Amino acid sequence: MTETALALDRLRAGELVAIPTETVYGLAADAANPQAIAKIFALKGRPADHPVIVHIAGSAQLADWATDIPAHAWRLAEAFWPGPLTLILRRQPQVPDAVTGGQDTVGLRAPAHPVTQTLLRQFGGGLAAPSANRFGHVSPTTAQHVRDEFGSQCPLVLDGGQCEVGVESTIIALLDGPPKLLRPGGVLREQIEDLLGVRLEHHRHSQSAKLRVSGLLDSHYAPRTPLISGPMHSVRTLAAAAAAAGQRVAVLTLQGSEGYPASILLHPMPGDPVLYAHLIYDALRQLDSLGFDTLYLECPPDSAGWLAVNDRLYRASHQRIV
Ligand code: TXA
Ligand code: MG
Repeated sequence: MTETALALDRLRAGELVAIPTETVYGLAADAANPQAIAKIFALKGRPADHPVIVHIAGSAQLADWATDIPAHAWRLAEAFWPGPLTLILRRQPQVPDAVTGGQDTVGLRAPAHPVTQTLLRQFGGGLAAPSANRFGHVSPTTAQHVRDEFGSQCPLVLDGGQCEVGVESTIIALLDGPPKLLRPGGVLREQIEDLLGVRLEHHRHSQSAKLRVSGLLDSHYAPRTPLISGPMHSVRTLAAAAAAAGQRVAVLTLQGSEGYPASILLHPMPGDPVLYAHLIYDALRQLDSLGFDTLYLECPPDSAGWLAVNDRLYRASHQRIV
């Protein structure tokens, strides 16, 4: 039996399967089966009122899950599916509350990864799948990340190699009122605005707080090791001081190694946002496994192309220096 056939058997039996997508790996269950979806929440340790995205093969399945679908949704699906874009739409009444968190909306996405495209076409229905990580932790971008995450509790993982995009899908709400950007991601905000000819509302996290204190704000996409991010000059000074005080320190750098003492491990990151996104979760996981006292990160520029990466770095950081 092929891995895909085995995965289909498991999904039809109400079991979980970890699936590759072009963004991150997902922890999938039959979206029409509430008992199967409950297993996702149990394994992730995720609060039950958080909705999960339903993955479908393409726009031919949109109306199976959503109703009152606006023209904008069809245009976006046409332009960007299969791909890293999730649409929040009014749900069909039969969509389980376990999927929607009890809301009257549903998130839908057609992923582009060929392994999961094949799986979805053979499955016929929808696959509810959040990212395949424990609640709040860094999302997985390789099959090994998923195994590391769940250990002996790990379900079948379909290995599709390293995820191309590396950060989660862009989420757009198309309900009453103008389209809203709920999460920046693999499809750029400007691409969507150009296609629809509208400006997207987007509520960025508050930039006003000088310091993000761990525990005060929702920490998501975060490594276990404390991560402090900020402008290069602050990071250089703070990391050097921590190392001088005897801490084991690593820095995700953007601008080279100047100014850092040799006692600090430097992990260079690419200066291009697409390449950076592809590598960031793997880099955080690698550094997290090496037993450092503190990780530091030089923040990328605050420009449009970096929106999704900056959003994830903000959430991953336990402290942020501005
Ligand atoms: O790239 C992705 O989107 C990945 C891959 C696996 O497809 N999935 C992913 O799922 O990131 P998750 O569960 O980690 O994040 C989904 C986000 C959550 O923030 C959730 O609140 C939001 O989507 N979401 C899902 N359904 C929603 C709905 N009906 N209304 C508002 N937000 C929704
Ligand atoms: Mg997630």
